[in-house]
Amino acid sequence: MTTCSAPAKIYLSGEHAVVYGEPAVACAVELRTQVTVEPASSTTVISGGVPTRIESATYIIEALEQIRRVHPVPDVSIHITSDIPTGAGIGSSAALTVALLQALSIEFGVDIDILQIASMAYDVELSVQGAASQTDTFISTMGGIVLMPDRIFLSHLECSIVIGDTGMRGKTSTMVAKVAELKNTYPGVTEHIIKSIGVIAHMGVVLLEKKDYSGVGRLMNINHGLLESLGVGTSSLSQLVYRARDAGAFGAKITGAGGGGCMVALTDKPEDVIKSIECCYGKAMVVKPAREGVREE
Ligand code: MEV
Repeated sequence: MTTCSAPAKIYLSGEHAVVYGEPAVACAVELRTQVTVEPASSTTVISGGVPTRIESATYIIEALEQIRRVHPVPDVSIHITSDIPTGAGIGSSAALTVALLQALSIEFGVDIDILQIASMAYDVELSVQGAASQTDTFISTMGGIVLMPDRIFLSHLECSIVIGDTGMRGKTSTMVAKVAELKNTYPGVTEHIIKSIGVIAHMGVVLLEKKDYSGVGRLMNINHGLLESLGVGTSSLSQLVYRARDAGAFGAKITGAGGGGCMVALTDKPEDVIKSIECCYGKAMVVKPAREGVREE
């Protein structure tokens, strides 16, 4: 029996634009999905103590298919527990896929290294979602705070990260397709927006390295406006973003695919930001950056 866990992530900048090759800065956070695997007479999935039909577990089916291309993995029982809210834009599917692949590779002696786990997890996301960048799966595998797609590890954050959850759910594949449709319909406008998001990511790296969180926050606010203009915002997300800013956050924005899910704020007043978000029916939590990516438990 093998158990592995992998972390969630937030984007300080660059989601959606990174799908089109622009840079993004994402940070692994200490919310984890744990996956336990052991050989069994048939493949079963129990998630949060509840048996789940394998046919509906798309990421799991695809992960098993991918790993069986390099090694004859037998039927397995899979137990999942998670602190990561699903479909909330903070990388629950990447964490599940990465933890599962690593647990399978350890349990069955599959000869692949950690970078191959990241790349296989990306293939899983790509196949399930139709379009994806390597960001979610790379960060969940490696941990830390990283400039993508160049894979440059940045200095650790020294301010608080607050995640606010709207409780509503968007689907990554739907939101990625929505941006693609807008880009096809209005290429002249949309391409500039996507490029501007990339500029924000590059500028953000310089400010992050200087620990100028007030500057990073201002860029996050601009990034939020650009994501709104790409059509991935919702009124609840913006309400929580404005509540966080009103409470003195350095900056706040959607994180992940949008269409529901979570926003993220950087702040030196986490209690004030949490109180302000929760006044607005959002659920808020302070999360620590995760230095470690996937690991055996
Ligand atoms: C989803 O967490 C982030 C997106 O940029 C999609 C991706 O990078 O695969 C929207």
